Amino acid sequence: MPQFSIEQLSEIAFQVLSAGGVPEGDARIVAAELADANAVGHDSHGVIRLMQYLEMIDQGFVKPGAAIDVLKTGPAFTLLDANFNFGQVAASRAVELGIDQARQAGTSTVLIRNCNHVGRLGSYSKRAAETGLASMMAVNAPGPGGVAPFGGIERRLGTNPISMSAPWDNQALVLDMTTSATAEGKVRVALQKGESVPEGWIIDADGNPTTDPARLYDGGALLPLGGPLGFKGFGLSVMIDVFGGMLSGSGVGRDDLPRGANGAWMYFVDLPQFIERDAFDNLMSQYVASIRSTKKAPGVEEILMPGEIELRRETDRRANGVVVPDETWRQIQELAAKLGASLD
Ligand SMILES: NC(=O)c1ccc[n+]([C@@H]2O[C@H](COP(=O)([O-])OP(=O)(O)OC[C@H]3O[C@@H](n4cnc5c(N)ncnc54)[C@H](O)[C@@H]3O)[C@@H](O)[C@H]2O)c1
Repeated sequence: MPQFSIEQLSEIAFQVLSAGGVPEGDARIVAAELADANAVGHDSHGVIRLMQYLEMIDQGFVKPGAAIDVLKTGPAFTLLDANFNFGQVAASRAVELGIDQARQAGTSTVLIRNCNHVGRLGSYSKRAAETGLASMMAVNAPGPGGVAPFGGIERRLGTNPISMSAPWDNQALVLDMTTSATAEGKVRVALQKGESVPEGWIIDADGNPTTDPARLYDGGALLPLGGPLGFKGFGLSVMIDVFGGMLSGSGVGRDDLPRGANGAWMYFVDLPQFIERDAFDNLMSQYVASIRSTKKAPGVEEILMPGEIELRRETDRRANGVVVPDETWRQIQELAAKLGASLD
């Protein structure tokens, strides 16, 4: 399987997106986000998405270069309409606006309607934390989701991720998770690698549990997070539809949009306006030490904080590169050839 540096992956994605008609600045943003997802080990949100994104441009669902309009704004909020531009472009803009507003007002809420797939939500919350803010954000999918409601066997909800972040030791404490048992892209990656998925992730078209990833794309559904307690993941997902989909005006329960159409809710807190940074840092290091000092279960070497696994993978992958599955690389090359993009 071929191996690439993060910079090479970003350049490959940039070339493909540019050849697909994405304006240069936006193509750079989307390409960097895809490569960043590969860097932190979330290959489901990395360059594997290029095929889906270009297909969505072809079908007119992603509108490259569309204006990101400010529909409403106040001292501590902004409502954006992304007009179906790339989610990465809209979310990057929203983070910049949210950080600026929170610095002025103490907190800020930014809502985005009509954006496409933002990619890895934790990338944006991490950016806020690295700038010294705490943040919470979530994304809903008004279009046909892949997730069955608790007790249901048909798709109704998106994988509706939530991310929360805070500064931690010059880096970031980042929780970034789907409210479904898994991200859909992880099932796609398993399918491309010819692997099975763990029990409890998906059901087939008849509602039977299965570990065959192909069954998801054959009328099956993802399950909500929580297994037998799936009503908790389901409940979170429903509230993310309210915050991301209803408050933003993006929509819920629509079947005229493709998967990937999203509404987003972001909330930013400027720490120094609530607590001195030194005092916060002290609390954080005491807290992390207390968590880490827990007696460990048999076979467990260490307790990791949210986002730490991504930080470690990133250090490794930025140094050693990323292996791209043969099938993914074949599809990217085929796409590049079709678009006339050079991958040299
Ligand atoms: N844009 C979208 O519409 C969309 C939809 C779904 C998912 N996503 C993205 O997919 C990505 C994957 O989501 P996921 O839920 O599969 O992530 P995941 O299950 O791999 O990780 C979820 C969280 O658990 C933490 N974690 C993982 N292993 C840990 C361990 N051993 N100890 C302590 N903490 C640990 C991670 O740091 C992370 O914060 C996310 O980046 C998410 O934003 C995006």
